[in-house]
Amino acid sequence: MQRRSTGDDVTRVLVTGVRGKTGLPLAESLAARQDVEVLGGSGDPSTVGIDGVHPVAFSWDEPAGWVTATDGVDAVYVVRPDRPDAPELVGALVAQTSPSTRVVLLSDKDGDHPGSDYPAGWAPSVERAVRAGGRPWTILRPGWFMQVFTDPRFYRHQIADSGELPFPAGGAEMAWIDARDIAAVAGRALIENGHAGRTYELSGPESLSLPRTAELLSAAAGHPVVHRDLTVDEAVAGTEGFERDLNRLTFERVRAGGFAVVTDTVARVTGAAPRTLEDFLSASGPALRRTSR
Ligand SMILES: NC(=O)c1ccc[n+]([C@@H]2O[C@H](COP(=O)([O-])OP(=O)(O)OC[C@H]3O[C@@H](n4cnc5c(N)ncnc54)[C@H](OP(=O)(O)O)[C@@H]3O)[C@@H](O)[C@H]2O)c1
Repeated sequence: MQRRSTGDDVTRVLVTGVRGKTGLPLAESLAARQDVEVLGGSGDPSTVGIDGVHPVAFSWDEPAGWVTATDGVDAVYVVRPDRPDAPELVGALVAQTSPSTRVVLLSDKDGDHPGSDYPAGWAPSVERAVRAGGRPWTILRPGWFMQVFTDPRFYRHQIADSGELPFPAGGAEMAWIDARDIAAVAGRALIENGHAGRTYELSGPESLSLPRTAELLSAAAGHPVVHRDLTVDEAVAGTEGFERDLNRLTFERVRAGGFAVVTDTVARVTGAAPRTLEDFLSASGPALRRTSR
């Protein structure tokens, strides 16, 4: 495998999912450094327009393209593909890299399930594929991202249009985390020593009830937003197969309080306190305002 020609003092990093919630801020922050070259992996590299980032074709559906995407890289950020064959795919990608390549996996809180039964054993098996790969690895287990409030594929439209946050918390609290703080931890793990063999449990700075979350969303949106509690069955309605199984598992853990735990990992690793939901909404809240019709 060829090292790139710009010299050993530059770290070459492949960021998969570069257009995603963590991949984008990670690529932006790494590209701002003189000593890092960033390859931004996307299924459609023509859509990657991030200053200083070299777009590269990367799709979980096209393993033949991984040789080019991983050529000469020193570190890889792996956004876990949420599909049944993820353990095999991630293991194969890791095997494609040179032995000294740092591998940082974006996993989630389900990574700590004991046992190997499906679906609870799926997230641990993706993590195992990384640990068994023989590369210096770091695993990130974040809670729910604050960005789900502004992502149109999650809650943005319900918050903006209906003034509702339908979420099956069952009274449990959530330590929402800003995806930029996950990216900041990932950035350290990709380019610094001292993170190999670590599994980082990541959370925001505080645990919030859903009614309190809705209050903060109301202030940001400029109209009342009300939490509507759902049953798990209601929350997974409309999904099927693997996605449904995974969502059910996650929501059951939400209700058991598994996402309420606050850790100090972001501050310990990055030296900066994680952002609060108010911090996040002060910049992103306008996306939740009603557009005039
Ligand atoms: N959202 C949360 O609250 C949360 C919490 C904990 C963990 N996670 C985990 O974080 C990961 C990312 O989830 P997200 O919802 O936040 O997504 P996201 O990072 O916003 O977007 C997913 C990314 O995956 C890429 N992608 C989609 N299909 C692909 C394919 N076939 N090949 C290669 N790349 C592909 C997309 O890139 P292109 O379109 O450019 O190809 C996109 O950048 C998931 O594993 C999820 O379980 C999410």
